[in-house]
Amino acid sequence: MQGNATTSPPPDAGRRTLVSWLLGGGVAASLASFFYPVARFLDPPQVAEVSVNEVAAGKVQDLKPNSGKIVKFGNKPALLVRVNDTEWKAFSAVCTHLNCTVQYQEARREIWCACHNGTYDLQGRVASGPPPKPLEELAVKVRGDEVVISKRV
Ligand code: FES
Repeated sequence: MQGNATTSPPPDAGRRTLVSWLLGGGVAASLASFFYPVARFLDPPQVAEVSVNEVAAGKVQDLKPNSGKIVKFGNKPALLVRVNDTEWKAFSAVCTHLNCTVQYQEARREIWCACHNGTYDLQGRVASGPPPKPLEELAVKVRGDEVVISKRV
């Protein structure tokens, strides 16, 4: 019979502790690398609404008559249309149906949304398709050779 009840740890106990610690850390890192993107997806950071009243949309000579282009208006797209030599139009390029970006169709002289084939006339009014309301119209000014788009007041 042994009188001494205390036992000394096996000689490889320290190595087992280290391996357990490393494995535990690896599992924790793996879980974090999996759940962090999921958490970011479920709770995305707030994107600040960039509010602008006016943007320079380019040079007059850069857009030929009966053509259009998309420009950034804050953090949203705007559609600038040069109707003819002297007439310009601008609208929010966000379709009022499901927020796709609209584009100008030169051949048909209309604004078209490719997502569900919605169309608008050059006043921004719905011509056909599912959009429920007109495009928001923006003001266009030509200052020298610069085209400026602004919110309508
Ligand atoms: S999103 Fe434009 S027609 Fe549907």
